Amino acid sequence: MASAAIKTGVASGAAARQRHVFVVCTGEQCSEAGSRDLLSDLKHECRHADADVRVGASRCLGHCQLAPAMIEDGRMLGWVSRRRLRGELSRLGLRSLGQRRDFDRH
Ligand code: FES
Repeated sequence: MASAAIKTGVASGAAARQRHVFVVCTGEQCSEAGSRDLLSDLKHECRHADADVRVGASRCLGHCQLAPAMIEDGRMLGWVSRRRLRGELSRLGLRSLGQRRDFDRH
């Protein structure tokens, strides 16, 4: 009985907070196409997000023709520009007003 109550508490707490997982390819072709800038921008932009955001890097994701490539919540994105990344983060509600000004300078 006690374990059921604990499981319920964890589930409701986790449901209240959005979770997003980003994996940026840092393989050779994606790096040459600017993926390290995307990774840096993501880390900067999401550091104060009001969500559970995980940002990671991976070697070649196997879609080099889409460089720079990344995975957003299980979805493969290709030819990702910094502008497109900003759009994705806005769509997901992960950009705060203060961070927007700083980020848009690039
Ligand atoms: S180097 Fe990025 S997908 Fe292959």
